[in-house]
Amino acid sequence: MEQKIQLKESDIPRQWYNIAADLPTPVLPPLGPDGKPITPDMLAPVFPMNLIEQEVSTERWIDIPDEILNILYRWRPAPLKRAVYLEKWLDTPARIYYKDESYSPPGSHKPNTAVAQAWYNKQFGIKKLTTETGAGQWGSALAFACKILGLGCKVYMVRISFDQKPFRKIMMNVWGADCVASPSDQTNAGRKVLEEKPDTPGSLGIAISEAIEEAVTDKTGKTRYSLGSVLNHVLLHQTIIGLEAKKQLEMAGEKKPDIIIGCAGGGSNFSGLAFPFTADKINGEDIEIIPVEPTACPTMTRAPFAYDHGDTACMTPLLAMYTLGHAFIPPPIHAGGLRYHGMAPLVCQCINEGLFKPRSLDQVECYQSALIWAQTEGSICAPETSHAIAVAIQEAKKAKEEGKEKVILFNYSGHGLMDLNGYQAFLNNKLEAFELPDSELEKAEDVLKSYPKAEIRKSGKW
Ligand SMILES: Cc1ncc(COP(=O)(O)O)c(C=O)c1O
Repeated sequence: MEQKIQLKESDIPRQWYNIAADLPTPVLPPLGPDGKPITPDMLAPVFPMNLIEQEVSTERWIDIPDEILNILYRWRPAPLKRAVYLEKWLDTPARIYYKDESYSPPGSHKPNTAVAQAWYNKQFGIKKLTTETGAGQWGSALAFACKILGLGCKVYMVRISFDQKPFRKIMMNVWGADCVASPSDQTNAGRKVLEEKPDTPGSLGIAISEAIEEAVTDKTGKTRYSLGSVLNHVLLHQTIIGLEAKKQLEMAGEKKPDIIIGCAGGGSNFSGLAFPFTADKINGEDIEIIPVEPTACPTMTRAPFAYDHGDTACMTPLLAMYTLGHAFIPPPIHAGGLRYHGMAPLVCQCINEGLFKPRSLDQVECYQSALIWAQTEGSICAPETSHAIAVAIQEAKKAKEEGKEKVILFNYSGHGLMDLNGYQAFLNNKLEAFELPDSELEKAEDVLKSYPKAEIRKSGKW
């Protein structure tokens, strides 16, 4: 039995998979300030038109340009690995596979879309990209992609992570990007928050507002904004993960996975792995698909489904999603990438259909799982990734109780070598389990009251 299942470069998928073509009930349209569906040209100050076309596309397959593949070959195809040592430790009949996205130069799945977005922006004549980052994985991925493609890059990094993870900022600087803590004094959105709450830990929502403001106020018209998750085109670019994994599972002699797991912040690494298999589920295959989030930021498991802005300053269109409200300031848990108030509308629609069954876990159980992983498989995972590992362990234990040979597949979204502070806090018993109090959810309902209602629509098949 091979522990690593490798594809040849010539076997790399040449098209991305667009789940919008196969959803039984489409996502609700994004709405503008007047409550009416937005048109593509309304997004033009923020994104280049070639990416807007992907955002609204309902074509099932979209070609990946060769020039993008040429950059991805630096680390793709990524290996599929079998977690044999964890299986042995758990004494489980389950076969646990994971897609190792930590191989990329910045160390996560994020460059799969960073490279694509930078390339399309360059094609469109754009010279500089702005963005937000939570844990710093996305910011460093975009910095890397912009350097390779010769674009400028400015990153607004959520203050709590800026302080907790100084090495991520250095990585961005090494790749030539400018990184500032958000809220900053460089934008109106940042200054307003600083005036009201000078010692705020920041949030992805605030950082997004700052990055969009810088892009749309550039008088040359050559700056655009780039988002690392949530939007349809970002999830599309990540489907290369699941498409590779499908071929690799076949090479390993597996007919299909029984359970698919991914941690979900905005939903991109989870969707990247899960969407190509969700197509099979839509066509009748029996697969349990589980996105995992922290109990501290329980968007999918406790928040209302509502129209809300993607950012704190309400600059983005209203998106139909599970949301804790755009004003939500998440507690400073260590999985910085899982602290976003909303969730990708495509993921939310799959939840509404019953295709996905979200789960939430507290950070203590996640770090316990990360330690088991490091002490069996060997690698030190990102705190975000530990959520997927923890559920993989739960499911492997369940398979043992049931005496079933299940095939479990999860996404190893990134390494944790820049996130050792969290491990230190855990080892020193300084980490606490945290459950978001109901009062925070009531605040969310309050924020969302004034927006159009988002109806939960489903076909009733699952
Ligand atoms: C390693 C890692 N995994 C997961 C995530 C969550 O993001 P998404 O849900 O878009 O994959 C992040 C975000 O920063 C991350 O850095």
